[in-house]
Amino acid sequence: MPYRRKFLKRAGYTTLSALLTMAFLQKDKEKEDRSIYAATANYASANTNPPLRKLAAAKGKLFGTAISGEFLQKEKDYANLIARECSIATPNGELKWNATEPQPGKFTFESADAIADFCQKHNIELHGHTLFWHMGKPDWVPYPPTLKMLERHVTGVMGHYRNSPVLKSWDIANEIIADSENETDNPTYGLRKGVKPELVRDLFKIAASVDNTKKFYLNDFGIEGATWKSDHFLKMVEYLKNNGVKIDGAGIQSHLWFSTAYGFDAKGFNSVLKRLNDLEVKPIITELDIIIDTPLPDSIKKLDQMVADSYKRYLDLCFAAGVDTVISWGLTDRHTWIRHPDWMPRKTYRNNPSLWKFLRPLPFDENLQPKLACNAIAQVFQQAT
Ligand code: G3I
Repeated sequence: MPYRRKFLKRAGYTTLSALLTMAFLQKDKEKEDRSIYAATANYASANTNPPLRKLAAAKGKLFGTAISGEFLQKEKDYANLIARECSIATPNGELKWNATEPQPGKFTFESADAIADFCQKHNIELHGHTLFWHMGKPDWVPYPPTLKMLERHVTGVMGHYRNSPVLKSWDIANEIIADSENETDNPTYGLRKGVKPELVRDLFKIAASVDNTKKFYLNDFGIEGATWKSDHFLKMVEYLKNNGVKIDGAGIQSHLWFSTAYGFDAKGFNSVLKRLNDLEVKPIITELDIIIDTPLPDSIKKLDQMVADSYKRYLDLCFAAGVDTVISWGLTDRHTWIRHPDWMPRKTYRNNPSLWKFLRPLPFDENLQPKLACNAIAQVFQQAT
């Protein structure tokens, strides 16, 4: 499959049309939380917004992001921003199979433990990502792995964090639904080729036998609307529930593409949220970022406004459906995955370096300054009931 199409499928196509201009937010400069602010004294220019984690907590919610141990160590300003803004964090790669069990039965946790230590120091919850995925795995692991391999992996990794004071949830399985009906050999559940529903069921049961104190999620992308994928994702969630599996939440990755070129399926997204709530499986936003596709606006300011409008529109729908955990996939454009050559969308951006400046999917810019998107997220938390 062409890279571009594969990427678009990976990113999921959820869009907003005819984005309305959002009235500039009346900055509500609540009194800064001096204790957290003091930890970030060396900002280039003080960020005077209330921390997003604080606004989220005021409504009983969590806000956080994917973090990289490498940048936590190398960039103090990045570490301070995470500590200031986040109450939950997902390791970008440090808890994936290739990082935790690079050789059969040989477990390595140094990089993940360093992130767990950081989280404990700054009172940040840790979300484990992920125990079963067709990517981020060592070459010796086939896809799907055998149940025996999964059992050893889950026992080793979840066992290591069973008594962790910070790790509270796991993406037990990630992206098990195929990208399209042409890529599955299971028409009922639309699972990736070779993956049987019984394997996923047994994986969740093994996880519960190792540590049933954590929240268990099934995580996927491209389900932010009424799509072939969301329909099959929901059928798989129902299958797990009907088989007595412990599944507490559904991770809706939310790698969103927005453009004035197509409509956003708010009705379909609401139906996904409703179906999950009916199944008593909590919708969790696990990898939120917002990429603007062609036709691109003629200025960065207009682009940032489009991104901000999209965050507000999307999170308003999420909170109306009871979502209480929002994790973005990165906090600053400085390290967004979407600028990495391996992941940059080929058609719109990859071969057009002059357009890379439009890759601004996150709440903070490269200099860790809040953008309109940050104000929009703050506003949604402040207005949440
Ligand atoms: O850390 C090494 C670095 O030391 C080395 O110099 C460099 C050489 O290229 O590689 C670095 O590791 C990279 C790692 O990201 C950390 O940046 C890996 O090569 C690269 O494959 C890895 O890509 C990550 C990808 O998952 C695969 O694990 C992306 O950053 C990450 O954003 C992406 O995240 C996924 C979620 O897990 C699941 N949902 C989709 C999402 C985006 O694809």
